[in-house]
Amino acid sequence: MNSVISMAYLFSAVMFILSLGGLSTHETARRGNYYGMVGMAVAIIATVAGITSGAYLPVGIAMGVGAVIGLHLARKVEMTAMPQLVALLHSFVGLAAVLIGWGGYLDPRINLEGAAHIVHNSEIYIGVFIGAITLTGSIVAFGKLQGLISGKPLMLPARHWLNLIALVICVVLGAQFIPADVSNATIINLLVMTGIALLLGIHLIAAIGGADMPVVISMLNSYSGWAAAATGFMLSNDLLIVIGALVGSSGAILSYIMCRGMNRSFISVILGGFGSDGTVASSDGEEEGEAVATTHDELADDLKAAKNIVIVPGFGMAVAHAQQAVSDLTDKLRKAGKTVRFGIHPVAGRLPGHMNVLLAEANVPYDIVLEMEEINDDFPETDLVLVIGANDTVNPDAVEKPGSPIAGMPVLEVWKAGKVVVLKRSMASGYAGVANPLFYKENSRMLFGDAKDSLQSVLGKLTPV
Ligand code: TAP
Repeated sequence: MNSVISMAYLFSAVMFILSLGGLSTHETARRGNYYGMVGMAVAIIATVAGITSGAYLPVGIAMGVGAVIGLHLARKVEMTAMPQLVALLHSFVGLAAVLIGWGGYLDPRINLEGAAHIVHNSEIYIGVFIGAITLTGSIVAFGKLQGLISGKPLMLPARHWLNLIALVICVVLGAQFIPADVSNATIINLLVMTGIALLLGIHLIAAIGGADMPVVISMLNSYSGWAAAATGFMLSNDLLIVIGALVGSSGAILSYIMCRGMNRSFISVILGGFGSDGTVASSDGEEEGEAVATTHDELADDLKAAKNIVIVPGFGMAVAHAQQAVSDLTDKLRKAGKTVRFGIHPVAGRLPGHMNVLLAEANVPYDIVLEMEEINDDFPETDLVLVIGANDTVNPDAVEKPGSPIAGMPVLEVWKAGKVVVLKRSMASGYAGVANPLFYKENSRMLFGDAKDSLQSVLGKLTPV
């Protein structure tokens, strides 16, 4: 039986690797998801088949309740609320690591000696430490993203010293705990470390503000992977070790890529805002001149006149559920012989690949959806840019105003096009809370209103193009 389970685990591990590979491009993302689903189904069946204690009933109940909650959440969740959901799911991984660590420590059947005892205690200690940070850090991230707690960074005096002191205490407690036998003395070490790690998780994530939140989610994803790997060691479960390492390293790589996309220092983000002065999420909201509004009729005329059009979608397209209208417009313009392409910023929307998923869902052809670096040099030759619910990702201050809170973040340089029409509801700022001088440029026009309503109205006026 054991060798069948090992084979099943190996199969699942390969499926998960194929899944990650598939998810790296939009053409293969759907297939990647299927690989992941098959891998997880086989992993669950093999794990249940491997239960030796005969405790099928509680496992069955737990799986049933989990499946109902998961199904309900997956059906209900809005694409825009996905980061919060992911944060909440990470907290479960952290909680599992803490509980399994404590379970392993208190299990009276485990009676190891020598090196095996030290390895076992190390696994427990590290698993509980990472799990506890992931648990509370993810809950704070969820609260911030859901608007339940302030998104502003918590800047306690000497906060980095507090983190360092907490870390040093945990290391000292661990040095006593790992070689010692199970006793009242060491249980206190584990208890105190768990408490400190729970507080550290809260403090680390509370210190991170506004614009860094996406990185936090992917960093917590990485932490949850390492927590799962530590759990795998505790349970001697090879699959959990492999999957944990895959999630841990892919989360870390994604965090790094996102930091590059937002010009944030990876180290400063993972250390809880180290080096950040907390201004990133602040608003300067200054007026910078007069923005000129346009109308649906005017935009329809602009579209008829333009030959080379670039569409830049952002978070507002997701809020408005405008992707289908965008796709219909694209189709119509392409049929009229116009070149239509999309420019996608790496952190447009609220989660990595947000725009790509929405556009794929609306059947926009993949080959006209380009990354920022692929399209940025083409704006000077572009007749018309439609900015649909994007704001920070097209803010010229990022490259033109060194003192701006988003200075240094690479952006789509849409203002270099012949004309830019921005579809949004008001002059409000975007996620980073900073004013956008794009709206006041001479070649910019504002089309106020919900993006979906505006596009549907413009579509109606486009027959024939
Ligand atoms: P944002 O800068 O967030 O701006 C979105 C704009 O959409 C808002 O200014 C809003 O203006 C408009 N909007 C909202 N609802 C709308 C509707 N129904 N119809 C039309 N417009 C609507 O968007 P972005 O350019 O995509 O930038 C993303 C930001 O989020 C970046 O700062 C990024 O760092 C951050 N972030 C990214 C991620 C990832 S990984 N992608 C995760 C979390 C945060 P009105 O209110 O005036 O309509």
